[in-house]
Amino acid sequence: MYYTAGVKLQDRIAIVTGGNSGIGRGIALRFAAEGARVAITGRDTAKGEATLKALQERGAEAAFFAADLGDESAAAALVANVVRRFGGLDLVVNNAGAGTRRAPVSATDGAGQRLDTLLRANLLPAYHVAAHSLAHLRGRPGAAIVNISSTAALHGTWGNYGVAKAAVEALTRSLAVQGAPLGIRANGISPGWITTEVTAGNAATDRGASLFGHMGTPDEIARVAVFLASADASFLTGQTVIVDGGLTITDYASLPWLDAVGAWKLFPPLPPDPGAPA
Ligand SMILES: NC(=O)c1ccc[n+]([C@@H]2O[C@H](COP(=O)([O-])OP(=O)(O)OC[C@H]3O[C@@H](n4cnc5c(N)ncnc54)[C@H](OP(=O)(O)O)[C@@H]3O)[C@@H](O)[C@H]2O)c1
Repeated sequence: MYYTAGVKLQDRIAIVTGGNSGIGRGIALRFAAEGARVAITGRDTAKGEATLKALQERGAEAAFFAADLGDESAAAALVANVVRRFGGLDLVVNNAGAGTRRAPVSATDGAGQRLDTLLRANLLPAYHVAAHSLAHLRGRPGAAIVNISSTAALHGTWGNYGVAKAAVEALTRSLAVQGAPLGIRANGISPGWITTEVTAGNAATDRGASLFGHMGTPDEIARVAVFLASADASFLTGQTVIVDGGLTITDYASLPWLDAVGAWKLFPPLPPDPGAPA
């Protein structure tokens, strides 16, 4: 097997926002495989129940909480409910988010509606859930926050989505400084192109999706999230790890040369969920 699940997160109580779908679902499954007790969120109850079933079928202690985390009151209620349900909180993965390229910086969008929408989907859930979690994470051994950003924060092609994700990365650094005296580490992951329902229609972009010529999988993000949330990353805080198969270190003008040397050939795509335990 490409990766064998262990017990890096044994009995840790984790929230994975947006854990009902895509990358968040992959993180929830991988956290459970590493021994964590997992609370997942999302607005889509059907997806939430389906992922909860998958977690429970794998023997995990898990719960689903439906919430629109753009509302601070919903984020506060989520944290309180998880602490009540599980008896504490050790790990927070702020994964909930959504993006589009059709979000240019604009003065004619009705009071910046598009920016508001992208901030509400990406920054505010992470900000509010983290803010309301600090008091519970405080003093818990190995307490950690992992925020999911995007390489859109580095590319000017994603407009307000990139603006919102850049703010998520700044949030990660602020949380790392504020969290240090409380015993809390905070780091982030900046995924490149990852195969989920959202990107499934983009198969045509596979060649340009990474240096390896294909998209990544949710589990390839999840395994980095396990690392950042575990004692393996005990001296790491305030950083956002780019997990993009080399997308951001390659340049457009070199694509013909990369094609010629077959740069991607030794890195075949992995199955979406290679290590999930039966
Ligand atoms: N897939 C990629 O290529 C890629 C690349 C870079 C970064 N990312 C980031 O990775 C994260 C997961 O994306 P994904 O591709 O896995 O997409 P996805 O399958 O659509 O998952 C997004 C999750 O966020 C939740 N969500 C969105 N807005 C929310 C809100 N206001 N309140 C509560 N939950 C909300 C969604 O739940 P409901 O719809 O049920 O509310 C869903 O669970 C996002 O932050 C995304 O920006 C993805």
